[in-house]
Amino acid sequence: MTHKQSPGRRNFIANSVKGSIALGIGMNATGALLTSCSPAMHVGASMGNTGFDQQPLPYKYDALETMIDTKTMEIHYSKHASAYSKNVKEAAQAEGVNMNEPLENVLAKISKYSAKMRNNGGGHYNHEMFWQCMRPMQTGNAPMGNLQSAIIKAFGSFEDFKKQFADAGKNRFGSGWAWLYTDKNNSLKIGSTPNQDNPLMNISDLKGFPVLGLDVWEHAYYLKYQNKRADYIENWWKVVNWDYVWKRYYSFYNIPA
Ligand SMILES: [Fe+2]
Repeated sequence: MTHKQSPGRRNFIANSVKGSIALGIGMNATGALLTSCSPAMHVGASMGNTGFDQQPLPYKYDALETMIDTKTMEIHYSKHASAYSKNVKEAAQAEGVNMNEPLENVLAKISKYSAKMRNNGGGHYNHEMFWQCMRPMQTGNAPMGNLQSAIIKAFGSFEDFKKQFADAGKNRFGSGWAWLYTDKNNSLKIGSTPNQDNPLMNISDLKGFPVLGLDVWEHAYYLKYQNKRADYIENWWKVVNWDYVWKRYYSFYNIPA
């Protein structure tokens, strides 16, 4: 997948996406906007949007053994994450949200809605992304291509990036998420949000587009790792789906492969 594109056009596209996010336009609209710029692009529209229903897990519960154990995956997906989907739909119905619209639209203006919508809308979005961010363990698992270059440029090296990201997860007091995201200046950043917040939310200290998220709630690791969150994070790197992360990054920037 290669194609040339002028810096000016890339900047226009990036700025269009930034503007869309700033205006609270969901990725559906963003994707349509970008697609209209060039039919050859593989951008936001190809990534799809997040709906309100829980999607099937893209692998079996035991697929991430032994980094993440089968029982944790089963409970995490079928109980915790399932409840977020159920509850965000209840909130949407009660608060007059059109569930045919992308969830991203709600998150962008989450301050207008209830705590139930914030907690469960974030929880549903974050987990739908989290499942996709993982895959069965691979030897030498690492980002490739321009995502690798961008990470090295932003953080010095892949190892430095992993340390900073892991620190964001380890230092999150209580429950929350560690993120790799792109900010309003199109820069890759690392950060953490509490509870089920994420960088798409207008109430978040972090603002941007999440490309990789790590769940550091105890329900994500306690059965296997107990209080050793650092060990969970260290092993989690082996199951990160860098192909999916690359697609999310690519969908935002439309960077040639
Ligand atoms: Fe979780």
